Amino acid sequence: MASARLDIIILHSQKGGPGKTTLSCNIAHELAKRGNKTVLIDLDIAQPTIQHIFRIPDKKIKHTINDVLMGKKKVSEEVLLETNNQNLQLIVAKENVEYGEGLLSLLEDIQQYSFFALHEMTKFLQRMGYRYVVYDLAPGYRMESVNAAAIADARIFVIRPSTFSFEGAKQMLRDIYKKLEIRSLSFFVFNQLPPKLKAENQKLLEDWKEDLINLYKPDKITFLDFLPISFDVMEQGIRGEYIFPDDSVLYEKLTQIVDKVIQDIDEMKKSKE
Ligand SMILES: Nc1ncnc2c1ncn2[C@@H]1O[C@H](COP(=O)(O)OP(=O)(O)O)[C@@H](O)[C@H]1O
Ligand SMILES: [Mg+2]
Repeated sequence: MASARLDIIILHSQKGGPGKTTLSCNIAHELAKRGNKTVLIDLDIAQPTIQHIFRIPDKKIKHTINDVLMGKKKVSEEVLLETNNQNLQLIVAKENVEYGEGLLSLLEDIQQYSFFALHEMTKFLQRMGYRYVVYDLAPGYRMESVNAAAIADARIFVIRPSTFSFEGAKQMLRDIYKKLEIRSLSFFVFNQLPPKLKAENQKLLEDWKEDLINLYKPDKITFLDFLPISFDVMEQGIRGEYIFPDDSVLYEKLTQIVDKVIQDIDEMKKSKE
């Protein structure tokens, strides 16, 4: 019997702050809402957020991704945390490592062990019957982020509408993504667009979109959307809430992103069979 299918989706960026965590939480939430057994994993070890977004008290956390990535703890059911949605479980990272030396040596251990640990993680989640895993990555070139990008079926690169974010994206797509296995998918999305763009800036963003697609040739990268900045989402953020309300423009666009990404993965995997 072929083992059940598990699809891996990662959210990445070159710089901090474009919306990886926001989008990874919403994508995982949406996949679970559609009835898929989904796990959301915080791989941003230095600045973990997912524990707080889902309001998981410290006492509920037995093991974190940190232990698994370092090879201190074999991945087991103890690492999975429940949410209000029975289809959505979490694996969180721990921030109460002592900073300074503690964090540095932790990061070093992870660099060395993460590739193996992520493979073990995939096998474990498959055995547990998960259909999707969504990784919220640390920005930039950290080894565990690069390794997660390498094992992903779909990579979603998040870019802010700024020259620096765009230049960073070009650099990273060229340095890393283009060198990964072709038979996995790459996507990009611009997030946090101002509401009323001047025509010249609108034009510039369209040019950037084309530039990224061209830069990627002969391989393919798929543009997903221009997502607006939402003051409602900012207001929610004050209260620590990240999930887009059902009646918002962002939710509408998110459902389309999820449709596109999962369909493309389906097609890719079918053609591989
Ligand atoms: N489309 C958006 N509209 C308004 N605020 C957003 C949007 N996307 C992200 N944010 C806010 O921007 C900040 C950074 O987003 P986050 O998802 O934490 O980025 P990252 O994980 O890439 O560092 C958060 O405060 C988040 O609420
Ligand atoms: Mg984040």
